[in-house]
Amino acid sequence: MNSFIGWIGGKRLLRKEIVKRFPDSFNRYIEVFGGEAWTLFSKDRHVEMEVYNDYNSDLVNLFRCVKHHCPELQRELSYMLNSRELFDDFKGQCYIKGITDIQRAARFFMLIKTSYGADIKSFGCVKRNTAVMIEYLQEIEKRLSKVVIENRDFSDLIKVYDKPDALLYLDPPYHGTEKYYQAQFKKEDHIRLNVELKKLKGRFILSYNDDEWIRELYSDFRIETVNRNSNLVSRYSNKSHKYAELIIMN
Ligand SMILES: C[S@@+](CC[C@H](N)C(=O)[O-])C[C@H]1O[C@@H](n2cnc3c(N)ncnc32)[C@H](O)[C@@H]1O
Repeated sequence: MNSFIGWIGGKRLLRKEIVKRFPDSFNRYIEVFGGEAWTLFSKDRHVEMEVYNDYNSDLVNLFRCVKHHCPELQRELSYMLNSRELFDDFKGQCYIKGITDIQRAARFFMLIKTSYGADIKSFGCVKRNTAVMIEYLQEIEKRLSKVVIENRDFSDLIKVYDKPDALLYLDPPYHGTEKYYQAQFKKEDHIRLNVELKKLKGRFILSYNDDEWIRELYSDFRIETVNRNSNLVSRYSNKSHKYAELIIMN
């Protein structure tokens, strides 16, 4: 199934390549840098135990509200319009005191859906059928019904869920693109992640941009290169523009 939101760095185009590298057997699936969760949503269920995690609390609140309060969220959204004035209001309202989690989730959802490239900063001026978007949340509610949703820094999450039968999929902010995410990710965080993965008991699949420093950092692991189209360049120039991504595995 498709994700219900857009997100910077989403793995819509790469998810087939990722899933085909999954090991034959594992009993828990953990998506450590969840974002819009394309890889999680690529199957009705990967295994009995699935975990979605992201450090961005607005995003996690939205996932939790879809899972636990879907009809209430849909009702809240049904009063909202795709308009620049409301977009500007929502930007300020997400963080005011006194609104409920459902009201915050609805505003955050509209910011993602109506912004340019899901950047939640600039109004996208795109015609969207909000009724279809709102109805689709029911499918996501069903898909998330047994998924554990966490809001932790990756190293705390790995400490809790890493077991010999675990498969971790990790899609951290790419080296050099960290500024596009609300959650700060610094060079020391890339190094911290590398340290965690070196002592992992389970299996991992990690995606990154093709970057010399990352190749060096993970030189002890299996690294495969895949080429994919850039969505934005193809959309605006009518030409396909390929760039390389790394899939790193233990
Ligand atoms: C490249 S995106 C993930 C895209 C996702 N795989 C998809 O298909 O949509 C990276 C995500 O990592 C999250 N993140 C940043 N720092 C984090 C941290 N310290 N621990 C966990 N998640 C973090 C960001 O909020 C962002 O959603």
